[in-house]
Amino acid sequence: MGRVEGKVALITGAARGQGRSHAVRLAEEGARVVVTDVCHDISDALPYPLGTKEELEETVQLVRATGGECVAVQADVRSIGEIQAAVDAAVTEFGRLDIVIANAGVMSSGRAWELPEEAWDVVIDVNLKGAWNTVRAAVPGMIEADAGGSIILTSSAAGIRGHVPYVHYVASKHGLVGLMKGLANELAPHNIRVNTVHPTGVSDTGISLGVPAEELAAREPMFALSAMNPLAPYVEPRDVSNAVLFLASDEARYVTGLQFTVDAGATNKP
Ligand SMILES: NC(=O)c1ccc[n+]([C@@H]2O[C@H](COP(=O)([O-])OP(=O)(O)OC[C@H]3O[C@@H](n4cnc5c(N)ncnc54)[C@H](O)[C@@H]3O)[C@@H](O)[C@H]2O)c1
Repeated sequence: MGRVEGKVALITGAARGQGRSHAVRLAEEGARVVVTDVCHDISDALPYPLGTKEELEETVQLVRATGGECVAVQADVRSIGEIQAAVDAAVTEFGRLDIVIANAGVMSSGRAWELPEEAWDVVIDVNLKGAWNTVRAAVPGMIEADAGGSIILTSSAAGIRGHVPYVHYVASKHGLVGLMKGLANELAPHNIRVNTVHPTGVSDTGISLGVPAEELAAREPMFALSAMNPLAPYVEPRDVSNAVLFLASDEARYVTGLQFTVDAGATNKP
């Protein structure tokens, strides 16, 4: 019996990177999965391309290769209509929704006082408002179903520490902690748990390739991942997926309001 057997999960930003890894890991443990992604570029203020339809389809195939069931819905988390359609598809296709993983996120860099307004807006819109949209689309049906649930918001080590030079990203990821803490209290009466995960640099994702840590470190040496993380410079997507899996499963039935770090020790530095 899998650790999330019989449950249905919705994952945003799942065309590649951590979202894809979460989809595969949850399916390995028995969940049926709805994967979503915007699947096209959304702003010139982002220095790397976003996921594609082909990559989202590849996620579906990887999930199916585990023997799991998977459906893909293209949705921009900035649009409540699009993310609501993805939530509705989960319920239509699989009859329920137990696990919501608000993972979609974008990043860029720049000094606080020099950031173009568009860079600020797109990072806050996707990372923070996108998570709120995902939650507000999913929660009413979960409350009505009266079967509890688990919501996991992907924050960052930058949601705990004041990393530079990208305050817009830091602000968005700290904002997710506030969203999580308030929601955990609002949803506890419905047995819906809400937690954040806080990865340090994650290898081989769109963000880590698109905003290279080495480049940032050249500008801000104290934030070099190799200097910052006592255990390893990077974690891998599956390391984060294992934390997500625990939080999603009934093993974590009394875990809510937690900031779960997967950061190779970064945020515990003296
Ligand atoms: N990579 C890292 O080093 C790192 C570290 C800590 C936290 N994070 C966070 O992890 C999460 C996953 O990122 P990743 O590392 O897998 O990078 P990634 O770029 O590979 O994956 C992010 C996915 O989100 C999608 N996306 C972007 N905007 C969207 C939108 N408006 N609507 C729907 N989907 C959208 C992208 O198309 C992409 O497929 C993000 O929230 C990121 O901020 C990443």
